[in-house]
Amino acid sequence: MTLASSASSEHGALPHPGPEHPLSMPAFVDHARLVVRDLPLVSSWYQAVMGLSVIERRPSGETLGVGGRPLLTLTTSNHAALAPRNAPGLFHTAFLVPDRPALARWLVHAARQQVALDGASDHLVSEAIYLADPEGNGIEIYRDRPRADWTTLPDGMVKMATRPLDLQSLYAEGLALGPGPASGGGAGWAGMEPGTALGHLHLQVSDLPAANGFFRDVLGLDIISTYPGASFFSTGRYHHHLAANVWNTRDAPRRSADMTGLGTYTLRFTDGTALQTALAALDRLEIPTTRHGDSVSLTDPFGIGLTLST
Ligand SMILES: [Fe+2]
Repeated sequence: MTLASSASSEHGALPHPGPEHPLSMPAFVDHARLVVRDLPLVSSWYQAVMGLSVIERRPSGETLGVGGRPLLTLTTSNHAALAPRNAPGLFHTAFLVPDRPALARWLVHAARQQVALDGASDHLVSEAIYLADPEGNGIEIYRDRPRADWTTLPDGMVKMATRPLDLQSLYAEGLALGPGPASGGGAGWAGMEPGTALGHLHLQVSDLPAANGFFRDVLGLDIISTYPGASFFSTGRYHHHLAANVWNTRDAPRRSADMTGLGTYTLRFTDGTALQTALAALDRLEIPTTRHGDSVSLTDPFGIGLTLST
């Protein structure tokens, strides 16, 4: 199978992120699609709480994003079965804001909206806040520390940990900063900061060695860190573009096609050779794929859909 290595015209007009940004790496996640039961409720929640804007409305669903960049598509289906907690699929989508002030401003907004948070962690490479949408889809909002502050371990892995994040000091910082550039000069928070991206996607899977085999050996991503029951994958030594854990889903059956939660996501390759290598591995292993123009769709070993794209 071959695939034309054309530049993305869809995102061509957008400002290029900095050299350390996950979207500057040879492959990255740039979009996810969730299947939801109550589209108006969930869409309005992502707009009001996460500050996303509607970019496209179709009968089947809505695409939301920041500054014209599509990040999340919500589709709905009358037939979708409610995914059980132990179904493979989404652990969280992770929205990467440009800097710590943007995270602090969002926290002030969330507090004013009385949004329930699930947690907040300092991961050494990043600072992250966790919550869930009205249908239980996990969400992380985070900012990265500069790579100069990251530690590489003797085995070449990037050092990460889960330590408490001081939300009070972050909130105080946000209060002192005011509403920020997305407010258009108004007094209130008016949306997610320009430049916000889908920095990573964290999946729950049924088998960690199988996940390592698929994401590393088939798709060609590097294992950049490990936790008990979780692997972190990336390109360009980012701390992770994809993570997979078995914490809720060890030995669970495959995800079914028509289930609420993560429908599919896009892994975009700027390195055409890396994409061709991944496609050749899929062919060699006789993993079924479907081609749509410049992209190839498939289902991973856990039943989670993904699209490989240039
Ligand atoms: Fe995450």
